Amino acid sequence: MVVCICNALRENQVRDAARAGCRDPLSAYASLGCRPRCGQCVPFARELIASESAAA
Ligand code: FES
Repeated sequence: MVVCICNALRENQVRDAARAGCRDPLSAYASLGCRPRCGQCVPFARELIASESAAA
């Protein structure tokens, strides 16, 4: 599913970034070559990253 509409980021991309070591939405998005725009997706992205961190 799409997490970030502004940047067309999918859930898998954010999870991959989290597994690659990104610990917050800002660094995850930066690693994907973009950054938060409207900010609407940030809480959900943060949850995804937290769940990947917990699973690691
Ligand atoms: S939906 Fe991600 S910045 Fe707008």
